[in-house]
Amino acid sequence: MKIFSEIKQITKNIERLKLDNQTVGFVPTMGALHAGHLSLVAKALADNDVVVVSIFVNPTQFDNVEDLEKYPRTLEKDAALLKTLSNAILIYAPTTNDIYQNNVVSQHFDFDGLEHEMEGKFRAGHFDGVGTIVKRLFEIVTPDNAYFGEKDFQQLAIIKKLVEKQRIPVKITGCTIHREANGLAMSSRNTRLKPAYKKAAPFIYKTLQAAKVKFGTESATKVTEWVTKQFAKQDLLVLEYFIIADIETLKTVKRKSNKKKYRAFIAVYADDIRLIDNIALN
Ligand code: PAJ
Repeated sequence: MKIFSEIKQITKNIERLKLDNQTVGFVPTMGALHAGHLSLVAKALADNDVVVVSIFVNPTQFDNVEDLEKYPRTLEKDAALLKTLSNAILIYAPTTNDIYQNNVVSQHFDFDGLEHEMEGKFRAGHFDGVGTIVKRLFEIVTPDNAYFGEKDFQQLAIIKKLVEKQRIPVKITGCTIHREANGLAMSSRNTRLKPAYKKAAPFIYKTLQAAKVKFGTESATKVTEWVTKQFAKQDLLVLEYFIIADIETLKTVKRKSNKKKYRAFIAVYADDIRLIDNIALN
């Protein structure tokens, strides 16, 4: 298992692999790896000769200092987990200086409006931070294929847009959401949930599933009102948003059309921990 922290080292290794005609798969992460991340790595290993996993808690995509400070950092454990999948994974764990050279700021992007919906409304500057780091990592790793989870469906859409608009030669593959047995979408932040909140959190996915059933016969507005009411009855979970959106534009649906695909998106606070999830509706 090789762990690289310097750009020079990782690029030298990747150049060598490319000269050898090896295909490079890439899974960018912020670490504190769980089975959801590993499912992306397994897909990358199946599709490519070599796989690079980056582990970097990117400061520019956090709008909340406490969330950034408390974000779990578990590099040794992460490396041990990756080793259970393959010994041949290259881990790239850069320092902030290496990536940002003392200038920890985001580039500004136009993602054709995708960045203004949902997470973009509630997390100021988040997608500029994501765009900045992913573009930088693509420049360093130069992957043939890169893998992103549908858990962050808006992020996946934005990365596809980034690659299209900036003409970055990489194929983006979206991977399904990995869940705990109780339905809670796996997330690095779940490890910070206190027991009572951990017990309450599966309500999020249960409600998404019920919303999906209701969406078969009811309007998006009715379903949204129903979900809002269900969360008002919860003591430990605070709904930030529930939105039913067109999967292409990510804009909130006003009137349903049989020709369009929709997804429900949700953000919930469990104590001070923000959890997001989503579900395909049709
Ligand atoms: P992170 O939250 O660590 O997630 C890394 C990748 O794993 C993302 O593509 C995310 O969608 C995917 N993922 C997380 N939980 C998942 C789950 N339960 N099932 C399936 N996939 C899951 O997303 C980021 O990091 C960062 O924004 C990053 C892209 C690395 C840029 O900093």
